[in-house]
Amino acid sequence: MNEMTNDLSQVVAADKAHVWHHLVQHKPFETVDPRVIVEGKGMRVWDAQGREFLDAVSGAVWTVNVGYGRESIANAVRDQLLKLNYFAGALGTVPAAQFAEKLVSKLPGMSRVYFSNSGSEANEKVYKMVRQISARHYKGKKNKILFRERDYHGTTIATLATSGQFERAMQYGPFPDGFVMVPHCLEYRKQWDVENYGERAADAIEEVILREGPDTVGAIVLEPVTAGGGVIVPPEGYWPRVQEICRKYDVLLHIDEVVCGVGRTGTWFGYQNYDIEPDFVTMAKGVASGYAAISCTVTTEKVFEMFKDDAADPLSYFRDISTFGGCTGGPAAALENMRIIEDEGLLDNTLAMGARVISNLEALMEKHKVIGDVRGKGLFCGAELVADRATKEPMDEKKVAQVVAECNAQGVIIGMTNRSVPGFNNTLTLAPALIATKDDIDQITGAIDLALTRVFG
Ligand SMILES: Cc1ncc(COP(=O)(O)O)c(C=O)c1O
Repeated sequence: MNEMTNDLSQVVAADKAHVWHHLVQHKPFETVDPRVIVEGKGMRVWDAQGREFLDAVSGAVWTVNVGYGRESIANAVRDQLLKLNYFAGALGTVPAAQFAEKLVSKLPGMSRVYFSNSGSEANEKVYKMVRQISARHYKGKKNKILFRERDYHGTTIATLATSGQFERAMQYGPFPDGFVMVPHCLEYRKQWDVENYGERAADAIEEVILREGPDTVGAIVLEPVTAGGGVIVPPEGYWPRVQEICRKYDVLLHIDEVVCGVGRTGTWFGYQNYDIEPDFVTMAKGVASGYAAISCTVTTEKVFEMFKDDAADPLSYFRDISTFGGCTGGPAAALENMRIIEDEGLLDNTLAMGARVISNLEALMEKHKVIGDVRGKGLFCGAELVADRATKEPMDEKKVAQVVAECNAQGVIIGMTNRSVPGFNNTLTLAPALIATKDDIDQITGAIDLALTRVFG
């Protein structure tokens, strides 16, 4: 490991005594220590005991796209903080303007960037924009926002109201009104017995719009590839039909690129795999690879113009602020992050390494009957585990968690669908940094191979 001579037992004790960790039950920490991650370099991290791990999930939640220990990003942030660390977004700053220009150059048809500091917040900005467009331009109609079963858009109460992952929302209601679910499009868990599954799954959106009344529906939010809901790559024919439906009923298309954005699927944005034209694109995690907190809500000039219609009306503009949307470290880090992806050819590497993950997992399918399906796009990949291939009965999530733990024991951190869809938390997830090499990929899938043997024989 890298140099680490200090005894960190006091740090671990402080963590155990005072830190409330995300997403975990703390009872076990009464008898075992929480894991404290101390250092990272490239694809690898080290914990307080000095154990080395190959990180196959980019900081657990698919964030550190360019890998750990990037000195050039640290320097860009440091230089910017000393020059000007902050000014509220009501005024401009140099890195925000420069990054906005660079970002829209990767988003043909889009032109305006609204900065905030988490994926949830970026999504909620869209919901507010849609509601205000409804109030100002549709006399309060078209205020409903559709979301899709199995998708996730954030942790706040309003974004949880659009959680297609029911388990995430349980016990946190009541939720605000006006959010309506459409069916998922996972062909492996078929809901219709038809040839053209993609088109049929998209038609289900039209059915919901017609049921609710087209004059009540303002927008739909969709992940380009559903991430935490089971690595769902929409089937052929799905996206063109979605676009057609949105145009037909004047429904704004909001693509949530919080996971897929900035390279994860081998294109700058996940939706660019599908030749569609969104009205809103939101992004967070990979935008600055976790070197600073930043999220963006990007939209078109057409949408932007709707907030300028009556300059004399004090309620006409987007009356929203995100305090930390004015932190300059975010766009400074994001600019350097994008330069790295370009200069190091990381989009191409993502495609090549993503193909290697899929073919390695497909090879494992022959050996391990518990793998029911392998899915993915670029470097976001998953393997759905089943108790029975014929019936597709989902594997018990405790067993899936054992596979994750067995990988951990081999020094490889992988993920799984976590408390998202009751009964279907059975998909192993992989999202290594875009710098992954063939050896890294083979080490990851090798660890899964051994873990599956240890758990299932
Ligand atoms: C697709 C998607 N949207 C939004 C979010 C919320 O982002 P954040 O945790 O930064 O608020 C997440 C987080 O995992 C996500 O996966």
